[in-house]
Formats: sequence, structure tokens, C-alpha cells
Amino acid sequence: MKPIRIALTKGRLENDSVEMFEKLGYDCTAVHEKGRRLILPVVGTNLEIVLAKAADVVTYVENGVCDIGVVGRDTIMEKGGTFYEVADLGFGKCRFALAVPKGVDFYEGYHTRCIASKYVNVAHAYFEKKNMDVKIVKIEGSVELAPILGLSDAIVDIVETGTTLKENGLVIAEYISDISARLIVNIASLKLRKAEIEPFITRIEDYLKERADA
Ligand code: PRP
Repeated sequence: MKPIRIALTKGRLENDSVEMFEKLGYDCTAVHEKGRRLILPVVGTNLEIVLAKAADVVTYVENGVCDIGVVGRDTIMEKGGTFYEVADLGFGKCRFALAVPKGVDFYEGYHTRCIASKYVNVAHAYFEKKNMDVKIVKIEGSVELAPILGLSDAIVDIVETGTTLKENGLVIAEYISDISARLIVNIASLKLRKAEIEPFITRIEDYLKERADA
């Protein structure tokens, strides 16, 4: 029978997800011994783990080639998409923030502000809500460089511990929103393979509830 495919965001969310699945009793040995393999079986079940980049997790789930996905709220906010977001998994916690060079007042003066970000849609939505006209420049990584080099007045980025900002002379000007890992499900899969998918989701929900009550 066709496996139920679960797309995990490679890296830290992958590790947290595998830890959660193991606590739920799923055998994730294949993931630990994956080498360069990207599709791994969960032995003794009809589940298969697919390792993908965050934005691709959304693409695979949205298109139904994966039934379930684990992806950060940051990616969901930036990319959007049509799927069910069924649970906040409580790990991968961080925040979106607007950060500026230390000592700078973001609102001082009348010039059009330039904002650098990997998350241009999130930045755009944030300033649109404020009714503020800004120029947004897409940066692919290490966004902290942009204001230091003089490309932008500020950045919109993910802050976890705050160390990267601090060590690069930046401070948080405003918090934008909380982020954490989410469980997403393909709309057709939940309908057509309900009997297989629902018990899996329920198991996760029970685990999250138990953890919250502990
Ligand atoms: C993220 C983010 C910050 C950093 C924040 O970058 O863009 O740079 O983590 O973490 P901290 O608050 O704990 O210091 P990531 O490591 O994903 O790499 P990137 O900059 O190349 O996107």
C-alpha cells in the first residue's frame, strides 16, 4: 500500500521532530543512519520520512506528494499555501523581529526606510499593516550584514537567542510575531486517507497535551 509520507524540514526541526516521533514510539533508526538518503522508512509502520528544505516541505505537502509536513511558522508566513495547519508542535521556538543598529531610532527622520530580509513577504505585510512605505531588499542569508554594510536601515529576521544580533551590534526595535514548528496536512490526504492519518495526528495531539499538563 502507498506509504503515508511525512516531510520534515532538514536540520534542527528534523532532529526535534525525530525526537518527538521516538517519544511516540516510532522507530526512527533509518533517519539516524540516513547517510545521504532523503527518504527513510519508519520500520514497522506505513510511514515514510522525507527530508526537505523548509519551503519545499510546504510545496510537497501542498501538492499532495507528501501527506504530512513539519515546517516552521516562519516559512508558512512567508510562503503561504493551501493545507491544514493542525498542530503547534511547541519546538523550534523563535521570533520574527525588526532589528536596527544599536543607538539608531528607526522612526527618526523622513526618508524612506530600506529593510533587508530573507522574508520579504513577512516584511511587506508588517509595514503594510503599519501603513508605512518602505523599500524591501531580499537577502539570502546572514541578513545582519545589510545594515552593517550600509545597505539597509533595519532588518526583519528570525531571532532565537539574540546572539547573532548582539555580536553584530544590532538590537531589536520591535517584535513581529512568535514562531514555532507546525504540523501541516494535505487537504485531500486528510479526506481520502483519514483512517490512516487521523490516528497519527491524534497521537501527536495527545502527546502535546500530556507534555503541556506535565
Ligand atoms: C538565523 C537568523 C539569524 C540567526 C538568529 O540564521 O537569520 O541570523 O539564526 O539566531 P540567534 O538569535 O540564536 O543568534 P540561520 O542560522 O538560519 O542562517 P542564515 O543567516 O544564513 O539564514
